[in-house]
Amino acid sequence: MIDRVTIEKIMDSVEIVDVVQDFVTLKKRGVNYVGLCPFHNEKTPSFTVSPSKGIYKCFGCGSGGNAVNFIIEHEHLSYPEALKFLAGKYNIEIVEKELTAEEVEQKNQRESMLILSKFAAGNFHGNLFNHQEGISVGLSYFKERGFRHEILKEYSVGYCLEQKDSFTKTAQEAGYKLDYLVQTGLTIKRENFTFDRFNGRVIFPIHSLSGQVIGFGGRILKKETKAAKYINSPESDIYHKSRVLYGIFQAKKEIVNTENCFLVEGYTDVLAMHQAGIHNVVASSGTSLTEDQIRLIKRFTPNITILFDGDEAGIKASLRGIDLILEEGLNIKVILLPPGEDPDSYSRKLSSKEFKEFLTAEATDFIRFKTNLLLKDAGDDPVKRSSLIRDIVQSIAAVQESINRSVYIKECSTLLKVDEGVLNSEANKIRRKKAEQRYRDITRQEEIKEEPGKRQPQVFQESTDVQEKEIIRLLLLYGNRDFMEIYPDEEEAKIITVTEFLINEIINDELEFDHPVCRQIFEEIQYIENNEQKIEEKFFINHQDQTISDMAAELLSPAPEISKIWSKHESYIETEEMKLKEVIPEILIAFKNKKIMITIKKIQEELRKAQEQNNIEEIENLQTRRILLNDLKKQLSKDLGERIIQ
Ligand code: CTP
Ligand code: MN
Repeated sequence: MIDRVTIEKIMDSVEIVDVVQDFVTLKKRGVNYVGLCPFHNEKTPSFTVSPSKGIYKCFGCGSGGNAVNFIIEHEHLSYPEALKFLAGKYNIEIVEKELTAEEVEQKNQRESMLILSKFAAGNFHGNLFNHQEGISVGLSYFKERGFRHEILKEYSVGYCLEQKDSFTKTAQEAGYKLDYLVQTGLTIKRENFTFDRFNGRVIFPIHSLSGQVIGFGGRILKKETKAAKYINSPESDIYHKSRVLYGIFQAKKEIVNTENCFLVEGYTDVLAMHQAGIHNVVASSGTSLTEDQIRLIKRFTPNITILFDGDEAGIKASLRGIDLILEEGLNIKVILLPPGEDPDSYSRKLSSKEFKEFLTAEATDFIRFKTNLLLKDAGDDPVKRSSLIRDIVQSIAAVQESINRSVYIKECSTLLKVDEGVLNSEANKIRRKKAEQRYRDITRQEEIKEEPGKRQPQVFQESTDVQEKEIIRLLLLYGNRDFMEIYPDEEEAKIITVTEFLINEIINDELEFDHPVCRQIFEEIQYIENNEQKIEEKFFINHQDQTISDMAAELLSPAPEISKIWSKHESYIETEEMKLKEVIPEILIAFKNKKIMITIKKIQEELRKAQEQNNIEEIENLQTRRILLNDLKKQLSKDLGERIIQ
């Protein structure tokens, strides 16, 4: 964690014009600077930078904020990453908050693993171009497959020498510890000997979003062998397969520019498409997408186009997984390749222009595609037809936008010859069920703690600290954003901000903050709101009350223990920002729920006492209260359900 003093130092040093100018050409106009907005397409400049206020604002697309926000938005970095970026620009030494011995150990370990991975990628890449074996075996393989040097360089492709432990030896000679070689999986250790995991394979380094090498895929070159065609780095402190997408580092800018992300299966598909001039492409590495991977894409675009190899069985197997992508609110198109082709092979058959035209022409909306595919299969068989209808309704229910949902319902009602109302109510049923499930997930964490007989019995936390901090964090980060339209007098819509919404809800429901610092910050936010001012992170981070500034710094450099309670939203600020409409009501519900649970817990204790004393009147009284509270809890679950369905 970056400490508060460093954050202050960074904030004091940054010159907004200077920061923005690295990316946008600015012209002085009066006291401000203007330029073409980097966040949307425009021909006349509406992007304004105010050096005195230290902020930028685009009057075209509405984006705006301080230098850190600019870097977050432009470079797609997290808050701490953006701070580090700026610290680098201004040569400010980052002082991380004091870590525990264990944290230091872990951090050092991760860093060592990253440094080693970078070394390994460099070594493998060097082999490919400079080592005799690398050239004759590795490079000639790629040449044969038609990959040009520039693409091999762009993706730092490499080659690991055949000799069993040559890389391990080289790395050790360069001073890298065997421990880290084993932990990154580059070296496999047996009792009496060690050897390279990837020997004799061409290497595809896997980069994190910010371009660090975190893992490797290696392809075998020999044809007659039982060994797996591809092997990958094992899971480690730095490599979590389910959270990365191959090629995301090289693709992210173009994904934003084109507002679309192509998804393919393999390493070579990514390379081949990039070579054909399509740079917004990533690979799931042979498996179906995980939630984390979907959210990773969603940081850059809500649109995803999946390329399917032309084999129907394979497609059907992956249909179900795609509902998950719909649930994350992404728009999905699919492209079916001709039989026997994968993106790599097909992009070579056509010229780059033809291939691009093919992609444009063939991209089909997913639900339409699925409906037609299954319809073709079902024919007139009534059993098959009804299972098909259920299947399609599942997908429609997964669509998050209500307008889109109703369009699909209309269209599918025609295609399937089923009444629109029936489809609609079936879809709603599914959505309600899912919402209830989600509500249970939210509250489960707390309830698990109460379950007796758990291996590690955890104490029920009799406080709403976690929820209170989360609400404050959301207020500090997004308080000024527009949240929703309300209709105070039926005619004119009024837009209220996140702050207005949260204050109203909390006051109306008489929810009180118990955590003293959270309460104080909430009161100050109310004061700011009453005076029609804006919430500024900086104000709280630089607050004269040390406890407040500490809390603000803690909350604003996203700490894992805070995001953990939101299993569904834990990954990224950007994602969270897109999900405010869900995140905010959910935290309110979690807050209320926790309050109720604490009260129930107290009542249970009192009940126990009353029973000991055989105080019948008190027992009845408490039991009634408990029933009421349980009803209230149920109502919360229903509220959540209805909110999602509307
Ligand atoms: N894959 C893997 N392990 C395997 C097989 C496949 O991790 N044993 C992953 C790789 O990321 C691979 C992707 O699944 O790129 C797709 O597999 P496949 O279609 O078999 O390979 P291609 O990408 O077509 O590879 P190539 O063209 O080099 O044969
Ligand atoms: Mn292939």
